Amino acid sequence: MDEAVRILRGGGLVAAHTETVYGLCGDATNGEAVAGIFEAKGRPSFNPLICHVASLEMAGRIAVLSPEALILAERFWPGPLTLVLPMRPEASLHPLVTAGLPTVAVRVPRGPLRELADRMDRPIAAPSANRSGRISPTTAEHVLRTLDSRIALVLDGGATSHGLESAIVGFGPEGPVLLRPGPIEVEKLSAVLGCEIRGRVSNAVLNAPGQMTSHYAPHGAVRLDAERPQSDECWIGFGPDPVEAAACASATNLSPRGDLREAAANLFAALNRFDDPDIPRIAVASIPHVGLGHAINDRLRRAAADR
Ligand code: TXA
Ligand code: MG
Repeated sequence: MDEAVRILRGGGLVAAHTETVYGLCGDATNGEAVAGIFEAKGRPSFNPLICHVASLEMAGRIAVLSPEALILAERFWPGPLTLVLPMRPEASLHPLVTAGLPTVAVRVPRGPLRELADRMDRPIAAPSANRSGRISPTTAEHVLRTLDSRIALVLDGGATSHGLESAIVGFGPEGPVLLRPGPIEVEKLSAVLGCEIRGRVSNAVLNAPGQMTSHYAPHGAVRLDAERPQSDECWIGFGPDPVEAAACASATNLSPRGDLREAAANLFAALNRFDDPDIPRIAVASIPHVGLGHAINDRLRRAAADR
């Protein structure tokens, strides 16, 4: 545990047991750690991650709990329930954690992952500790099967008791919605809440945040795989900039040294910076289609898509 805390403080990744599945953990306020999670998983896109906290009080520091949310949290935390809640701006979560959404998924787990959040006194971002497309891990051996060379350490707590990812509840304009079924039955959640929790509906915001095209689109048109900016374009570079970038009204660089993890960590900030009605055109340097580059290009494609 001491070593795991040391690794997380340095922006590294560890895997940890929870009662649902093992989580691949990083400091949710550290952009390179969060980008490292996507890289280690080999995720082709940046789905938002669950923030794990040690207590209800800690949850209240990063998110706003409505009276309904509070009822579920008090009854089921620590436990296999995740709540999607409005994020507090002062939470200082890295935007990759929420995929740029104004909401954050929060859970108080049982086991070593909770202790990590407590010792760090910071939210811990953690998806299941497996390579993308592989099966969720319910033992430390499962974790090592696909992540051995990519993480420094596993906090082994034996086999997980539920073996299934947490239930996720969000709160839409028409009341609570079950976004992902999990170990706690929806009937039980509804009974505790005293009102019916609906199943997933075709509400794009609540259903598939990572898949929404418009969410990542800035006001201006986005031109990808650009070699250099034209005179009326803002510039988002990667690797050494062309000389024209210096003449740009507005230019930024995702990673001058061409590091994909650094670029991923800076991506949402760069798109946000140029998301302005007064900025009509943005040119983006080409990003290699390897490793984290797939996830970065996935988001850039959405940002550049016709609306
Ligand atoms: O049991 C679990 O929940 C495990 C352990 C490690 O805690 N974690 C887990 O994480 O299953 P992951 O990344 O596989 O699933 C997170 C889910 C995704 O489906 C994601 O879309 C959703 O949570 N999610 C995260 N933030 C969200 C948000 N702001 N709004 C809606 N859905 C969100
Ligand atoms: Mg998973």
